[in-house]
Amino acid sequence: MDSKISLLKLMASKVSLTKGNLIMPVILSELQRQVSDTSLATTPLFALIEEIQKILDMGITQIMIFGIPKSRNIMGTEAWNPRGIVQSALKIIRTNFGNSIKVSTDVCVCQYNLSGHCGTVSQAGTDLDNDASIINMKKIALSLAESGADIVAPSSMMDGQVSAIKNCLLENGFHKVKIMPFAAKTSSSLYKPFRAAAFLNFQMDSKINKSKYQVSCGNLREILNEIQLDLNEGADIVMIKPGLAAADLIIEAKRRFCCPLAVQNVSGENLMMKTASGKGLIDHDEWMLAYLVGMKRAGAELIMSYDLDRIIRHLE
Ligand code: PBG
Ligand code: ZN
Repeated sequence: MDSKISLLKLMASKVSLTKGNLIMPVILSELQRQVSDTSLATTPLFALIEEIQKILDMGITQIMIFGIPKSRNIMGTEAWNPRGIVQSALKIIRTNFGNSIKVSTDVCVCQYNLSGHCGTVSQAGTDLDNDASIINMKKIALSLAESGADIVAPSSMMDGQVSAIKNCLLENGFHKVKIMPFAAKTSSSLYKPFRAAAFLNFQMDSKINKSKYQVSCGNLREILNEIQLDLNEGADIVMIKPGLAAADLIIEAKRRFCCPLAVQNVSGENLMMKTASGKGLIDHDEWMLAYLVGMKRAGAELIMSYDLDRIIRHLE
């Protein structure tokens, strides 16, 4: 027997990290597929069924879909088009796989509008108009619920978005659709590979500054406050991202709020592992599994990460 494999298995089993804890992100893109070593893997809509089957065959039953549409416009209206990329994907999944897979969907406009910001830019220019943004977030969430989403995951960090979306879903009869906000999304350059994929073919700056609405990782009180607010507004699960330097946040949020917690291992973290292991400097699979184990040990019951196929053989 390969002793390294059994050691990794043991490491995962010690903290009861199982396939049931994992969420596979699916980045659906209508843009031309990228091929470089540093680009994020995306899935075209025509390959969706094959991709979902692969995920189910691995024993993973939860995904989160992010959509990258062919065209953007000023308000990002494609984000709530009933025939938009994510809405179409949901219908395809429900037709082909029924309820055998739990589907979360990102709720945001930054892949769909011209500014690349997570909301509507105010008339005055630079700031985001929080209330105008929320009107659109509700439209997006409703269109996703109507298309078959199990969970909607607002990622814009707009104030009051969770209660607005929750009320909108309830008013429209979607009592079972859960809300998993990205409650503590710290401003970070680790999102750059994702943005590069989303901004491909558009002259956009992947260094775009979202620090006015994403939280600073240095401010513990503000981060916990964001989580508390989302829970008060009715969040079912809260997501923390990026996960790499956030173990203390997971522990503290669990201790204070006893709420279901999810963590995302984001695109830049994935790229760090890929780059260092590509140069033979670290063992990708071992570190990736150690990272997931660390998140589970800290208290996250849901962990979203790219490239889960690399480590799945070590998990029950
Ligand atoms: C924004 C959004 C981000 C990611 C997905 N949607 C972060 C951002 O642009 O600030 C990044 C995900 C990743 O890096 O894996 N709504
Ligand atoms: Zn966004």
